[in-house]
Amino acid sequence: MFSANRAPRGLQGTPTAPGTCYQGPFLPVIMPGLVQPFHVVVWAGFVSGCVSTLLGGGNPSDAPAHYISPASCLVPAGSDPSAPEAIIVRGGRSSLLQGGSSAARFRCPLSLNGLAMASGLWLLLLFALPSARALEPLSMGLAIAAASALTGFLSYPRFYCGRFTECCEEGVLNSTALQHALEQKLFGQHLAKKVILKALKGFMNNQDTKKALTLSLHGWTGTGKNFISKIIAENIYPQGLNSKFVHIFVSAMHFPHDNQVPKYKDQLQMWIRGNVSACPRSVFIFDEMDKLHPGLIDAIKPFLDYYDEIDGVSYRKAIFIFLSNAGGDLITKVALDFWKKGKQREELQLKDVESILSVGVFNNKNSGLWHSSLIDKNLIDFFVPFLPLEYRHVKKCVAVEIQSRGFELDEDLITRVADEMTYFPKEEKIYSDKGCKTVSAKLDLSMEL
Ligand SMILES: Nc1ncnc2c1ncn2[C@@H]1O[C@H](COP(=O)(O)OP(=O)(O)OP(=O)(O)O)[C@@H](O)[C@H]1O
Ligand SMILES: [Mg+2]
Repeated sequence: MFSANRAPRGLQGTPTAPGTCYQGPFLPVIMPGLVQPFHVVVWAGFVSGCVSTLLGGGNPSDAPAHYISPASCLVPAGSDPSAPEAIIVRGGRSSLLQGGSSAARFRCPLSLNGLAMASGLWLLLLFALPSARALEPLSMGLAIAAASALTGFLSYPRFYCGRFTECCEEGVLNSTALQHALEQKLFGQHLAKKVILKALKGFMNNQDTKKALTLSLHGWTGTGKNFISKIIAENIYPQGLNSKFVHIFVSAMHFPHDNQVPKYKDQLQMWIRGNVSACPRSVFIFDEMDKLHPGLIDAIKPFLDYYDEIDGVSYRKAIFIFLSNAGGDLITKVALDFWKKGKQREELQLKDVESILSVGVFNNKNSGLWHSSLIDKNLIDFFVPFLPLEYRHVKKCVAVEIQSRGFELDEDLITRVADEMTYFPKEEKIYSDKGCKTVSAKLDLSMEL
């Protein structure tokens, strides 16, 4: 399932022996007529040093397979230098079943990899090639210094991260932006907004977290669980759900066969272990938890627990998000009771729902967390309730959809689309059956009329 290491990159193109040469490597730049084979070799060394750096020499999470790193850098991710090397499975957008590529991974101080590679190439030139030993020392020294400085600069994460490649180091939370996005985009979910913002802020700003952050999102269909996951991902990694550090598992797609649960457990553990060792700040989203085979999720229990590290890998910076419809009926009941008492929905507090939710989910055979040790052992940090959406929220979703298509807002059209949706319970008709999920299709229909 997980494919083998890739061929090493970066140390290719070692120069061949040059001819006799008595000038320094910079002379041909000034006097092109004096070009000797040696000059070509020297500059090829310089260029390949830079290229190799750009191709991954300085980026720990993109280090090529079998990458030869200085001994001082041979520290497996998240482990102490004495621990054995971590073999990782590289993430990327490939799904779990398609697999990724694996690579030995090393954590290196900022530009050491690049410097080491460039210097290595130059030393190779100096000592391995007989005629190179006769070089003019000043030019050679200057060239080595320039190559090292340049490759060192090029391998500085601030230079290449986000420009040439995505880096794990970019995984920082912009809490102001997250708050703004939640306020502007997510309707009718005051509890979810509050909990998620607090949880993420607390977790991401804490340099000494004791365990991975685990959020379990529950609610009726179309109430914004996937939508908020997208917002979270976008506010941690610029590439959002497309980031190679954000992984989505969909039960029906990735774990379809009940008779293969042991195999899925192994794969899941390998996948998480590999990706967290590549990037401690990895985000794992488990969609359709209610369709997950009971017991499968317990395979990841060790990763969510209070361990400093397991086999040299620390999971304490990772984020796990579970999405589920389980408990949606319980949340609706609490919200409806509130409404019947004439209270404002916004007065509803987390404590009114959280325990009902965790107990309900634990006892629900179809929740993905049925009798799960994750609940038993209090490894889920927050149960996040998503309230059923009302008519007024649906209208807001319609307005957003109209604007996203570049049309002017039209109150009649908004009302028409919202009226097209169906509402429950039968008598009161307060909550949208499908939340905001079918708004787009209903708008298509209304616009055709
Ligand atoms: N609370 C909300 N605020 C704003 N838009 C919403 C909200 N809920 C849903 N939407 C809109 O509806 C779309 C579908 O919602 P989403 O996929 O998040 O539902 P879900 O809760 O994951 O449903 P399901 O349980 O069926 O998977 C979103 O992409 C978003 O455009
Ligand atoms: Mg969903």
